[in-house]
Amino acid sequence: MRLSVLSGLLILGAAQSVNAASIYAGEAKAAAVCSQCHGIRMPSADAPFPPLAGRDMDYLKTALKQYRDKTRKSDIMNAIAGSLSDDDIGNVAAYYAKLKP
Ligand code: HEC
Repeated sequence: MRLSVLSGLLILGAAQSVNAASIYAGEAKAAAVCSQCHGIRMPSADAPFPPLAGRDMDYLKTALKQYRDKTRKSDIMNAIAGSLSDDDIGNVAAYYAKLKP
């Protein structure tokens, strides 16, 4: 009885740290790669780059997977998404979805 409560807490704790870790990893990736074009919070006014902050996480994931498998065409984004793993996509989507637009 006692043991199962404890392992429940451990599982909860682990799930939370995975979530925090993926946002952190997404932030690092975004700062290194994506922000050059998309900006961290605000795209520069005259750039043709869509803003990502605060967008729906599933929308971002779907868009990145479509760029990666080239069902959505963009020379720039096809090249960038081509080198992203599923984890990278999940991480950056989690990060940008959490950002305030
Ligand atoms: C070299 C510039 C550049 C970089 C770097 C870049 N992007 Fe993009 N991104 C673009 C452009 C241009 C578009 C618009 C493409 C189109 O017309 O579909 C775009 C579109 C997108 C979209 C679709 C947005 C929408 O409104 O549908 C997502 C999501 C996205 N980028 C995510 C990322 C992520 C995540 C990274 C980093 C891993 C990244 N981009 C890095 C230029 C860039």
